[in-house]
Amino acid sequence: MSSFIKALPIADIPENGNKAVEIAGKSVLICNSQGSFYAIANECTHQRSPLEGGKVRGTFLFCPLHGVRFDLRNGMPSGNLTKVCVKTYETRVVDDWVEIAEATGTAAA
Ligand code: FES
Repeated sequence: MSSFIKALPIADIPENGNKAVEIAGKSVLICNSQGSFYAIANECTHQRSPLEGGKVRGTFLFCPLHGVRFDLRNGMPSGNLTKVCVKTYETRVVDDWVEIAEATGTAAA
């Protein structure tokens, strides 16, 4: 069973936006897709740029630098700039906080 860590209050994450938080020495981006929350490593697999501030549209996040689209559900990129997945984390909401699973991130492909 996964153990979960408190990440951010849901009120701090704008709808269709995101906010980064430092967890266990790693920057994790919490994304709000119309009230569903996803967690993904805050580093693009193209040129290692932070993903924070990228647009969230449905279950997709767009890198703010060159626009690669990542699937928030599994970290899969689309397009030709990168073929490497971004690590994703399981999330849940407890008492109006987003929590992320400590060690269940999917490994980069
Ligand atoms: S750094 Fe993200 S698409 Fe280039």
